[in-house]
Amino acid sequence: MPKTAFVTGITGQDGSYLADLLLSKDYHVFGMVRRSSTENFARIEHIRDRITLIQGDLLDASSLIKALERAKPDEIYNLAAQSFVPTSWDQPILTGEFTALGVTRLLEAMRAVCPDARFYQASSSEMFGKVREVPQTETTPFHPRSPYGVAKAYGHYITLNARESYDLFAVSGILFNHESPRRGLEFVTRKITRAAAAIKLGLQDSLELGNLDARRDWGFAGDYVDAMWRMLQQDAPQDYVIATGSTHSVRTLVNLAFASVDVNPEAHVRISAALIRPAEVDLLVGDPSRAKRELAWSPNTSFEQLVEMMVRADYDDLSGTHLGATARQTRTLKTIKSRRNALSAK
Ligand code: NAP
Ligand code: GDD
Repeated sequence: MPKTAFVTGITGQDGSYLADLLLSKDYHVFGMVRRSSTENFARIEHIRDRITLIQGDLLDASSLIKALERAKPDEIYNLAAQSFVPTSWDQPILTGEFTALGVTRLLEAMRAVCPDARFYQASSSEMFGKVREVPQTETTPFHPRSPYGVAKAYGHYITLNARESYDLFAVSGILFNHESPRRGLEFVTRKITRAAAAIKLGLQDSLELGNLDARRDWGFAGDYVDAMWRMLQQDAPQDYVIATGSTHSVRTLVNLAFASVDVNPEAHVRISAALIRPAEVDLLVGDPSRAKRELAWSPNTSFEQLVEMMVRADYDDLSGTHLGATARQTRTLKTIKSRRNALSAK
């Protein structure tokens, strides 16, 4: 009998990879999407006819109840969140509503509609913040450094509390940074890989960045969604750190990405004070031993392979080799501009 999964955040990076994985395992996949005046389905376009989308919003508890009543899921993956750290200083209350209280709304809806389902919460290494030990494990204390990190810590503990109070199968994966060619353009990896490709192609001249000394444990999103699924197949609910165990600076990432297209970063990269954060997370590196031991999970993609994959995808997209949505938009705008110029010249 095929299982049914309900995924919030299905239009995001992780939601799209998780949907791919669940479909490959013959799940019925329901994805929750927010109503928008323009569709935002680029990452799930290739599987649109194989999944069922239900409108709902983490801000609206009644929409969550109705969505779960319709999907009747065996597994719930709560991936939706306001996930960009700098935005959390500009919109701290909204971030708390989505990223913190949204978890409670979904857990309460699950309790009311399908208490026997299994629940996955997307916790984050941002909760470790000003780290108390290196590497970070499931027992490292939290010291979040942004409203986003604080909201994630709430989501983490409310999930643990649901497990302890109501005996729900509710778990958190404490995932370290994970990236892919589907990563949002504002996150540092994608910003850098896209810029390296664009500069190589003569489409961009410079790249502004903030703190080059920050260090992150970067893995591949495709590997990490497999860990989420494995957590919900265990006999007993348990939280896990998911990481590679290696850490690199933003500077190393820049050098690697630019070297892969044979461009000298020093000629193009500038530091902008506006991109320095009010409080920084200087060093993240996770210890995935428990996941290796109990989930038989380990990452398959190295940092070097990840950067290479992302630069190549951006290069292909921008050069039109596999004309992607962003490149198509850029080209259409250029065509409109040149037609307008030609008309006004007449
Ligand atoms: P993402 O690409 O930013 O996707 C976020 C998703 O959440 C989008 O589908 C977005 O929908 C949806 N969403 C936002 N607010 C919502 C609301 N109020 N109601 C319903 N849906 C809403 O994030 P990601 O990188 O895939 O990350 C997935 C989850 O893992 C997030 O919770 C993130 O905080 C967490 N996490 C990520 C990482 C990482 O390195 N990627 C590491 C640790 C934890 P729209 O398309 O409509 O905006
Ligand atoms: N975004 C961005 N843009 N970051 C920059 C820039 C820049 O121009 N320049 C330097 N950085 C540094 C940031 O200061 C930070 O230390 C690091 O690059 C990584 O930034 P992001 O890629 O924005 O990711 P993040 O670590 O803040 O958050 C991501 O990972 C978390 C897990 O640790 C997000 O995906 C979160 O949702 C996730 O929870």
